[in-house]
Parts: sequence; C-alpha cells; structure tokens
Amino acid sequence: MAPPTVRDKVQTTAAAFAARFARPARWGAAAPGRVNLIGEHTDYNDGFVLPMAIDRHTIVAAAPVARRDGARVRIHSEAVGGGCDIAIEPTARRAEPAWANHARGVIAGYSRLAQAGQFPELPGLDLLVTSDIPLGAGLASSASFEVALATAIEAAAGQALPPMTKARLCQEAEQELAGVPCGIMDHASAALARPGMALLIDCGDESVRAVPVPADLAVLIVDSGKRHDLADGSYQRRRSECAAAAHALGVASLRATSPAAVEAAAGRLDPVSFRRAFHVVNENVRTLAAAAALLKGDLATAGGFLYESHRSLRELYEVSCAELDQIVAIAHGIGEPGGIFGARLTGGGFGGSAVVLARANAAEAIGARIAQEVGARHGWTPTVFLATSVGGAATFELEARR
Ligand code: GLA
Repeated sequence: MAPPTVRDKVQTTAAAFAARFARPARWGAAAPGRVNLIGEHTDYNDGFVLPMAIDRHTIVAAAPVARRDGARVRIHSEAVGGGCDIAIEPTARRAEPAWANHARGVIAGYSRLAQAGQFPELPGLDLLVTSDIPLGAGLASSASFEVALATAIEAAAGQALPPMTKARLCQEAEQELAGVPCGIMDHASAALARPGMALLIDCGDESVRAVPVPADLAVLIVDSGKRHDLADGSYQRRRSECAAAAHALGVASLRATSPAAVEAAAGRLDPVSFRRAFHVVNENVRTLAAAAALLKGDLATAGGFLYESHRSLRELYEVSCAELDQIVAIAHGIGEPGGIFGARLTGGGFGGSAVVLARANAAEAIGARIAQEVGARHGWTPTVFLATSVGGAATFELEARR
C-alpha cells in the first residue's frame, strides 16, 4: 500500500479534531521531520549542514475559538497522548506537561511580535496534533512540532513570517522553553525544505543551496530504538566545549578556523577542546565535499565522507553509542558490493538513528539485510525505513471561509 500523503494525514488529523472538539477544523498545517545526511554538531558553530526533509510529519488541525476568560490555545496531542491549555502571553515559563513547553515558547514568540506591532493579535485556538515521526529518534520531531504549530498560528492570523524568520522563532522557543540550546538546522529544514532536494545550509550567514538527491540514491533510516533526551545536559556540554575551544583559538566561532590551524594549535588546547574543535572543522570540510560529490552523482565518494563523519562523532565528539556503532559497522561490512555507499549516526547522537546511503533499486532488501544482520550479530533489531525527500511546512484550508 502506498504511504499516506501529507494531504491524507491532514484529513485524518482534521477528522480527529472534529471528533474531539465536536466542530470542524478550519486549517491544517504540516511540517516534516528531517534526516541529516552530513554536517553534525556544526550548526551551532556557524558551520555547514546537509539535511533532507522526510515524508514523516507533525500535523496540526486548528479552528478559532472565542473564550470569555481571555485568549488561550487549547492543544490536544495524539502524538504524546495528552492535552494542555496555554494562555497567549508574550512571556512563557516552563511547566508541566513538558512536551507543551515547545508550544508555550512558540505561542509566546508570536505574542511578542504582536505586542511589538509586527504581527496580528493571535486569536484563541483549539488545536489537535498528530505525528508519524518517531519521537526522540534523532529525526527532529520537536522542531517539526514547533514549525507545524507556528504554521498553524500563521494560517489563523492570516499572516506569515518569512520562512527563515519563522525557523528562528521556533529555534528560540526550543532553546528557552524546552531547554535544548539547539542550532538552526532542524527548524530551517522543516520550514524551507524542497521536494527531491537536500539543503546545504551555511549556518553562518543562513544561506541555503538546494542539492538534488540523485535518482539512484535511496536514503534509509535505521532507528536504533535507543532514546536519549538532549535536554539532559550532554548537548549543552558539547556546545560549551566548542565555545571554549573557539575562545582558546581566538576565533568568534569554530567556523572561522581550519583543520590545519586547529592542528597547529594542538599544544595550546586541552585534549577535550582539541577533539571537539578537530571534529567540527573537519566536518565542515566533509559536508561541503559530500554535497559536491552528490551534485556530481558520485555516491561512493559522498558515502565515504559519511563513514568518516561517524568515526569522528564516535572518537572525537563522543556522541555515538554501541547500537549506532553496530549499525554503521554492519552497513560498512555490507558495503558497495551489497549496495551501501555510506552510513553514520544522524542528529544529536547518544541514541536515535543512523542514516544509510544505499542503491535505490535494492533499497528494501538492503534495509531488511541490515536489520537481519544486526539481529543475528547483536541480538536486537532496529527499525528500518526508506525516507523520501519532501517539501517544507505548508498550510491547508479545510473549510471555505464564511
Ligand atoms: C540536534 C539539534 C541540531 C543539531 C544536531 C546536531 O538535532 O537540534 O540543531 O545541532 O543536534 O548536529
């Protein structure tokens, strides 16, 4: 059976909205998750990333509501199985349930813009949220939720921010309210993605170049099932270590330096600063080189950079885990004769998923082989799926305006 289209998912979510709130939804909004092909832990160092939005989405169905007790947004999330009622105010504080902090931050962001006269006042809203992005799998489910919510708010307000401005508002919401000092990659991908393309984003000046996904390339996602919460401090620590390394190197960000310069400064850097910086500067070089290889259709060269990226994330950046290392080693063992060009962990790490570049005409069999070999050798089985490159956030009018 063909997988559901975004429109199908919006219709299903609208039906769930009608069932819960006993009236029809007026707007649907969708935002995709992403798989990062290469360029890991570079975005908050002003570096390069190469994400591809995937055919997994957060969907929000929305309708306006007038409330006597002031403007509020009432959300029911089928994705997490719970609800929350949020006041529309320019300041927001972290509260329970924790998943709603993402929404509190986005709502406060638009509310601040409205207060500054840069956006219409937000109407009260009822929202129903669904998602088919595995949560905590390194596929940007939170960014997708934030961008889908922002897109629904814009539909309801009748005004949209430029996509990169929306991405930044959502990134700030995640940083302030959800406690992850993330970069711009996930939100930019959810807001700006184009079908059939990966995006080469320069996180220094936020310029974006579309890199077509070659027709003979299949992108497989191998979910280890191991979950890791980036809000637990490990991500924050990496960020601080990079800032300290940049300081020691006398540059504003690690983007401003090079592998040769970091190597030359090795004696002046403590071992942790050296390892973190050496990963980042080389990952920037690899990301540009992998994008260039993909543009030429040279899958073997692109894939080689993925293996190198994984090794660096494991040994220098220290964000891998046994399960991800096992998946990548098995993919490497199958190799080009078995139709695999490269593999690496994708996203923040410490768990989550690996991305595998495979030959398109045998993708399903290759995915099944990876799962089977991991099971046979290590006694656990990852979930493998084929990812299709899709466009960024979109709105859908569900009812004719009266
Ligand atoms: C998470 C963050 C991103 C990025 C990656 C690592 O996904 O949200 O901004 O830093 O980790 O590349």
